[in-house]
Amino acid sequence: MPLVSMKEILRDARRDGYAIAAFNPVNYVSMKAMVRAAEELDAPVIIQTSVKTVVYWGHQTLANWMQELAGPSPVPVALHLDHCKDLSMIRKCIEYGWTSVMIDASSFRFEENLRLSKEVLEMATPVGVGVEAELGEIAGVEEEIKLADEDATLVKPDTAVEFCLQLGNQLAAFAPAIGTAHGVYKGQPEVAFDRLEEMYNRIDIPFALHGGTGLSEEIIQRCIKLGCSKVNISTQLKHVFVNGFLNYRTQHPKDYEPLKYIDAQYKALYSVFAGKIQQFGGGGKSRTTAEPGA
Ligand code: 13P
Repeated sequence: MPLVSMKEILRDARRDGYAIAAFNPVNYVSMKAMVRAAEELDAPVIIQTSVKTVVYWGHQTLANWMQELAGPSPVPVALHLDHCKDLSMIRKCIEYGWTSVMIDASSFRFEENLRLSKEVLEMATPVGVGVEAELGEIAGVEEEIKLADEDATLVKPDTAVEFCLQLGNQLAAFAPAIGTAHGVYKGQPEVAFDRLEEMYNRIDIPFALHGGTGLSEEIIQRCIKLGCSKVNISTQLKHVFVNGFLNYRTQHPKDYEPLKYIDAQYKALYSVFAGKIQQFGGGGKSRTTAEPGA
């Protein structure tokens, strides 16, 4: 089916208490493994490109790959732009067929974050593109920007309610900073479940859980129960991508057939994607009310 907007599939996930896996691809092989794993499990999936991946491959190439993979697929696939504060990049992704975009203006003051998020909503909503916005600041490294744990700011539920309300409760996903971080954790993070629960009770919008790599099963499941209907995984995939290649090299030191290396990466990625989709409860959830996106 054509690429779908993230808004409808996430709304269904929030209503029915599961989460949709959102993976950051790096090339065609990783995108293919994501779509095939979703098909195998009859699940919706979100493929979210980091800005640097878009810059590396170009809009047209990524859009072509995604249309080729999603078009004949029976499962709903959304193409999402991850963390972006550049409005011209957001506009261009929308033009090239991304079905949802994230405006990350979380490093700005509340009013400026709101202003930029509103502007993106006004750009995206009329053409059926979903919008994710962030409030509070999530620690770790994302898009070359490093935010130390001590500089991260947790979201306040009252402010979150106000933010979502001011945006007309139109967001496809709301990303509140609740103590998780991008990258590799040193231990398990302290998640602000009290704040998450209060927001869950007061905000009827699917939440995006950032920093999914390395979270314990208990944290993931508690977050999903409290409205985190989109779980982001990036760092783990980078490791699997590189290790898939290296492991094949170790096992076959004399093999110089590149396609075998690529296939080893594909299989390693596929197995992780399938595991995550299942873990988040997305298996068997492909038949949603999702409408094709723009
Ligand atoms: P990780 O890199 O920790 O998996 O986080 C991914 C993420 O939240 C992307 O926005």
